[in-house]
Amino acid sequence: MRRSLGIGIIGAGFIGPVHARAARLAGGNLVGVVGSSPGRTRRLATEFGTDPAVASAEDLIAHPQVDVIHICTPNHLHVPLAEAALRAGKHVVCEKPLAVEASGAARLVRLADEAGRVAVVPFVYRFYPTVREAREMARRGDLGAVRLIHGTYLQDWLSDAADYSWRVDAALGGASRAFADIGSHWCDLVEFVTGQRITRLTARLSTALAERRRTAGAAFTTRGGSGPVASVDTEDIAVVLFETDGGAVGTVTVSQVSPGRKNRLWFEVDGSAAAVAFSQEEPERLWVGGRDSSMLLTRGSPANSEASRRFDRLPAGHPQGYLDCFEAFVSDAYRAIAGEEPEGLPRFADGWRSVRITEAVLASARRGDWREVEPCGAP
Ligand SMILES: NC(=O)c1ccc[n+]([C@@H]2O[C@H](COP(=O)([O-])OP(=O)(O)OC[C@H]3O[C@@H](n4cnc5c(N)ncnc54)[C@H](O)[C@@H]3O)[C@@H](O)[C@H]2O)c1
Repeated sequence: MRRSLGIGIIGAGFIGPVHARAARLAGGNLVGVVGSSPGRTRRLATEFGTDPAVASAEDLIAHPQVDVIHICTPNHLHVPLAEAALRAGKHVVCEKPLAVEASGAARLVRLADEAGRVAVVPFVYRFYPTVREAREMARRGDLGAVRLIHGTYLQDWLSDAADYSWRVDAALGGASRAFADIGSHWCDLVEFVTGQRITRLTARLSTALAERRRTAGAAFTTRGGSGPVASVDTEDIAVVLFETDGGAVGTVTVSQVSPGRKNRLWFEVDGSAAAVAFSQEEPERLWVGGRDSSMLLTRGSPANSEASRRFDRLPAGHPQGYLDCFEAFVSDAYRAIAGEEPEGLPRFADGWRSVRITEAVLASARRGDWREVEPCGAP
């Protein structure tokens, strides 16, 4: 019998435990979980029932039973940790943004190719069955010619000057915050659904809060920081106007300071024959717009395409959500390691492209001009 894949996770704040759960559900053997200090790592070994001898990221990467390293740390650590894991011959699941600079992302794509390892980025919103259905509609031509792609990704957890996270600090999160953190998901998703690439864009960034009180709190729960005041060098809001290689135009508004909006990733694709809209907070339904009548398409309906039904874990009417997407993503990553080629698996090349889009947004916002998004050829 083949042994199950050995899994190591680095970083255990919000998303690390989500990876751990998905890894176990996908049949992985969780060998170790590493936190930000040896003490924290010891406590994590007890919490997750993993190897107590693992004391650091280096130990975990060198561990003979570990086949796959999941990187769930702040952004500035993604490249060095992924590089170390690939050089040690491990497969890598690395959180987005893959890198804080496109050159680092390109290096990782090259390293993964040379090492012949599977290297993937959790653009997990691709794994909602309704997103796959929207993609099928675009592929089959149900939408006609795509004319307009628009939407938002809005959150409110950084609305107040007492809200803080390492994400705010460019040295840890990267020069772009709101766009790299969540706008990256939106762009990946609409490119995935439409099959079109964003080729040119013009962006405006706004830092609504020039100063914040530092706290050590975890993401999304930072309210009430009482630490020293720090000046902020990353954006709270990004507004982007773009063109695609398929002749469409589009806009996206990204914000982490929109009161009441928790995780409103919403997009609409308007074609010559029909439109389709998806909202991450209500992911069981797709709105399909027509000139004469419109409808709500339900996940799990027998009429849905095989491409979406592959991700149905439950019958219609039993809601699936974000954790199911994560499990589906990790399952597909492990299938790829086993030699299969799962459709729509986001690889390091997709992570690299995403960092390129972020760099175009930053460059455009600095000068107030239009920028080409450099295509990612050979790394
Ligand atoms: N794909 C998604 O949907 C998704 C969702 C949330 C976060 N993320 C990404 O995941 C990463 C982590 O985000 P988060 O929300 O979990 O942040 P978080 O602050 O909740 O957790 C990060 C953890 O990493 C730990 N850490 C810091 N330095 C470390 C080190 N050297 N070694 C080990 N651990 C270290 C911190 O102590 C913290 O517990 C980010 O890159 C973020 O963009 C992706």
